[in-house]
Amino acid sequence: MASTCRVVVLISGNGSNLQAIIDASQQKDYPARVVAVLSNKTEAYGLHRAQAAGIDTQIIEHSAYSDRITYDQALMQAIDHYQPDLVVLAGFMRILSDDFVQHYENRLLNIHPSLLPKYKGLHTHRRVLEAGDKQHGASVHFVTPSLDDGPLILQTAIEVRPDDTVASLAKRVHAVEHRIYPQAIRWFAEGRLHRKDNRTYLDNTELKPNAGT
Ligand code: GRF
Repeated sequence: MASTCRVVVLISGNGSNLQAIIDASQQKDYPARVVAVLSNKTEAYGLHRAQAAGIDTQIIEHSAYSDRITYDQALMQAIDHYQPDLVVLAGFMRILSDDFVQHYENRLLNIHPSLLPKYKGLHTHRRVLEAGDKQHGASVHFVTPSLDDGPLILQTAIEVRPDDTVASLAKRVHAVEHRIYPQAIRWFAEGRLHRKDNRTYLDNTELKPNAGT
């Protein structure tokens, strides 16, 4: 990508991943910049983070729309106004329609707080503790129509300690997320990241994210 990669970020809440992306984008050599932050929740704290960084924000509340298709169309229209090269889901707590996912095919990323394919969906930290897993972590992936199922880009593991709680795991997983999401976005913005079918490539090498590495 020759010029700076334009990124639209979708959030629903705190926006700590958004903050990590904003912080990265303020580094001199970072090849992407956040051009807008959209939220489906008025109270999302991430909106303040965006405003503090001088980034456009928009709230599109799902309660104002009759169904998912109509909502997603409004969302796409708002996103496309900013002509993004990349759309980033950062704690956007909605299932997206197939039309939406197809519209942004190969330029739509998500971060998930687990070592996918383990623990798709919600409450990942609690489920890891209940299962007695020794490892947990976070994954960045391309978005496909099936929930938390797209081709992986980056994955980093943490050890689960005997005294861990949902809160302590969430804290350490977040720290990992804040490293790997800006990294994946950098690769994309540098034009180095590609998806073909269900595989991802960095330059021409297939990425096979491997927990623990
Ligand atoms: C993160 O754990 C992310 O993996 C998940 O939602 C959470 C969002 O956290 N998709 P934040 O709003 O970025 O702090």
